[in-house]
Amino acid sequence: MSYNTVVIVGLSWGDEGKGKYCDYLAQKADIVVRYQGGANAGHTVVCDGQKYKFKLIPSGAVWEKEVVIANGCVLDPEVLFEEIENLEHLGKNINLKISSTAHIVFPFHKKLDGLQEEHKEDYKAGTTKRGIGPTYSDKSARYGIRVFDLLNPDILEKKLKNLFEIKKKIISIYNGNWEYQFDELFQRYVDYGKRIKKYVIDTAYYLNKQIEAEKKIIFEGAQGTLLSLDHGMYPYGTSSSANALGVCAGAGISPKKISKIIGVFKAYTSRVGDGPLPTELTNQIGNIIREQGHEYGTVTNRPRRVGWLDLFNIKYSILINGVDYLFISLLDALEGISPLKICTHYKLNGDTLESWPLQSEIIEKCEPVYLTLDGWEKRSQEEWLDIAKKGYDMLPENMKTYIETIERELNHKISAISIGPERNATIQLQEIF
Ligand code: IMP
Repeated sequence: MSYNTVVIVGLSWGDEGKGKYCDYLAQKADIVVRYQGGANAGHTVVCDGQKYKFKLIPSGAVWEKEVVIANGCVLDPEVLFEEIENLEHLGKNINLKISSTAHIVFPFHKKLDGLQEEHKEDYKAGTTKRGIGPTYSDKSARYGIRVFDLLNPDILEKKLKNLFEIKKKIISIYNGNWEYQFDELFQRYVDYGKRIKKYVIDTAYYLNKQIEAEKKIIFEGAQGTLLSLDHGMYPYGTSSSANALGVCAGAGISPKKISKIIGVFKAYTSRVGDGPLPTELTNQIGNIIREQGHEYGTVTNRPRRVGWLDLFNIKYSILINGVDYLFISLLDALEGISPLKICTHYKLNGDTLESWPLQSEIIEKCEPVYLTLDGWEKRSQEEWLDIAKKGYDMLPENMKTYIETIERELNHKISAISIGPERNATIQLQEIF
């Protein structure tokens, strides 16, 4: 049986342009699914001059497609309702389904996120403070409260009482203030339960049925492979499987039902948060790329760290995810910079490394080895859009050389490229759906 399921994953540290590409492909899709992470994600979609910023709701909502928040996500009801209201305000019809087994973020999770970060000192990841780590910790420890529990006040009361007391103790260990009243919090979440009820189903059962009916489904990854809990740079990452491997557990889908995997990466590297970044540019070139690429966090507005493209870690991510198609974004953001550099591999104590070292303590000591290429001229957004309309051949020659160098180094064709924030600034070279 053939299926029409596509996974879109970030190959680096998040913010690769997954939201933009997901929106681009969603036009032809039936359903778009988030399967991991929570309101730590910041997916930006620009179309017809309107900017949409999503933290929880899948990007397919711009096309008014069916969107699903699956079991592997952690759900902050406050953020969810804010996003629903924003979309409604923009006149969008929302066709949303939420898993009954997704875990719920409470205010004390967010508080604990900040306190734990302070305690970790050098090992802090620079989290978004959205309570992601503490909520997934409770899930693993089987303390967690799920969407289903919000719909059943008796169950919620019992579970929340238990969790409330434990969290109070833990927060006091970190010398944090306990600012929550049980009755108020309980009532607030019972009210959320009433509002959320109409969206709640068994999404794993539903999605399997839709896959068997050959519906076109996109699984929209959040964050990026190098931030994954497993196979990422621990402990400087997030608490979910922010890669294609996460789809199966995070949505209840067999690996046999995934048809295509698309890896998304930027023409350079960016990272929010802490941890080593071998190709980081802390000079004026870095500042220029940050401004031209609008590298400020969607969720936290933090300036992102930027660096040259690191193909050594992209190769690793292609391997881990089993990538079929590659999408490169933000080529336009490198305009006016020459020469450009691309890291192809690392050296450690004079030796060339064979595979990307996962230990941050080793990565810190690595020396990136670069290729140097000529850059391309600056253009206006309208000019980039016009080039995108005309197609690949119209790209600046040096940009084509840059793309072809990447393809050669990765031994992998690039299937789509982006040269501007607008939906139409995309050049699709291979059909996906
Ligand atoms: P958390 O997911 O908020 O716990 O943050 C853990 C790490 O992942 C931090 O370094 C964050 O900056 C990073 N991170 C989390 N979400 C995103 C994202 O959507 N884009 C980029 N980095 C992220």
